Amino acid sequence: MKILVIGGNGTIGKRIVEHFSTNHQVLVAGRSSKKYPIDIADTRSIKRLFKQIKKEGKVDAIICAAGEAKWAPFKDLSEADFHIGLRSKLMGQVNVVRYGRKALRKKGSITLTTGVLADDPVYQTTSAAMVNGGIHSFVQAVALEMKKQHRVNVVSSGLVMDTLDKYESYFPGHPPIPMARMVLGYVRSVLGRVNGEVIRIYEAA
Ligand SMILES: NC(=O)c1ccc[n+]([C@@H]2O[C@H](COP(=O)([O-])OP(=O)(O)OC[C@H]3O[C@@H](n4cnc5c(N)ncnc54)[C@H](OP(=O)(O)O)[C@@H]3O)[C@@H](O)[C@H]2O)c1
Repeated sequence: MKILVIGGNGTIGKRIVEHFSTNHQVLVAGRSSKKYPIDIADTRSIKRLFKQIKKEGKVDAIICAAGEAKWAPFKDLSEADFHIGLRSKLMGQVNVVRYGRKALRKKGSITLTTGVLADDPVYQTTSAAMVNGGIHSFVQAVALEMKKQHRVNVVSSGLVMDTLDKYESYFPGHPPIPMARMVLGYVRSVLGRVNGEVIRIYEAA
């Protein structure tokens, strides 16, 4: 398969790339990628990359492991702060589906990324949790309209092991997710047949 991974140099993305690279052709995209530059918060940039991919040859799968949202206490979040998550993690990923479809082969899949905050938020995450929940609803709804041409799923994992040092104190009592376990969510979406599924990975085993 030919698989595009947006955010493929990130903590989660690089594990996904590592895994699929053993048996598949993987294209790594991100804001700082020279070959496949994309900023998902910028619609023109999304259109440009998918136009380039379509020209080079369509892909079998698109994985997005990128997207930001502002963390802060609710009382301190301005409307502009909320817009960071809406523009990047929410609309950015919606636009990856809107424009990515055009660069996707028949029967191809798109896999988005959210996280446990959608179901089990912690302090300071009103924006991030809201955006994750929005993507979950979007994926279930958009899958109904794919007419068996394409599949769309989202992987929602808990705090992953590789970022434990940085974020552990924000997630009291949350089980850290081993990286290999997290990757299985993407494998299920890309190689399986599921469609419109929120693939929740909240337990370590
Ligand atoms: N870490 C966790 O425990 C965890 C758990 C569940 C879900 N998540 C979610 O998974 C996603 C990735 O998390 P992560 O920990 O891997 O983050 P990360 O280490 O910061 O990596 C993010 C990657 O995405 C790229 N990126 C960031 N913003 C982008 C944009 N606007 N357009 C295109 N590429 C962009 C970055 O590269 P460039 O800077 O080159 O663009 C980087 O390669 C996030 O949405 C996060 O909320 C994380």
